[in-house]
Amino acid sequence: MTAQISEADFRRTVGHLASGVSVITTRDAQGAPVGFTASAVTSLSLDPKLMLVCVDRRGHTLSAISHAGCFAVHVLRDDQADLAMKFASSSRDDRFSGLQLTPGVTSAPCLAEAHARIECRLEACHDGGDHVIVVGEVVAAEALGGLPLLYWRGQLGAPTAPEGEAQSEADGGPT
Ligand SMILES: Cc1cc2nc3c(=O)[nH]c(=O)nc-3n(C[C@H](O)[C@H](O)[C@H](O)COP(=O)(O)O)c2cc1C
Repeated sequence: MTAQISEADFRRTVGHLASGVSVITTRDAQGAPVGFTASAVTSLSLDPKLMLVCVDRRGHTLSAISHAGCFAVHVLRDDQADLAMKFASSSRDDRFSGLQLTPGVTSAPCLAEAHARIECRLEACHDGGDHVIVVGEVVAAEALGGLPLLYWRGQLGAPTAPEGEAQSEADGGPT
């Protein structure tokens, strides 16, 4: 059955899955900060506290995460679409230029500005076709406020806040 679905149709259809947008950071073998934009990010387990990120095998960040043994998830704010595009661009040298970093508990570089920040120690890597499912144990987590940046049908955009809830923090949902 799946052979009848073209890649273009599959991409178009799964584009209807609205998601948040995150920047995943870590350090390469030389200790330099590296990172990329990801929408395939989710909480996986509450006990133990686990996150998962689906990382393209062809990307450059996967080997760095494996080497560093840690990564940080920065859930982007609605005004950070430029940052999402910067960390998705083919040029990797200037992704961190002009960005303020803040100390974290792992060696992963932490961006000062984000909607939420979650630091993880690498727990496991699982096969996921042309991606690898990277699972991390959460060692620090902080919600920093604002509204999230969303990715839907190939577009980055801002959600409309429920009336009177523009700055409130939701209680969270199921993992
Ligand atoms: C909105 C958006 C979401 C993305 N989500 C993912 C993702 O979940 N996993 C992934 O591996 N790449 C994703 N990408 C593509 C990477 O950001 C892009 O290929 C990047 O250049 C990879 O960098 P690297 O090769 O330095 O690791 C996404 C790109 C955009 C614009």
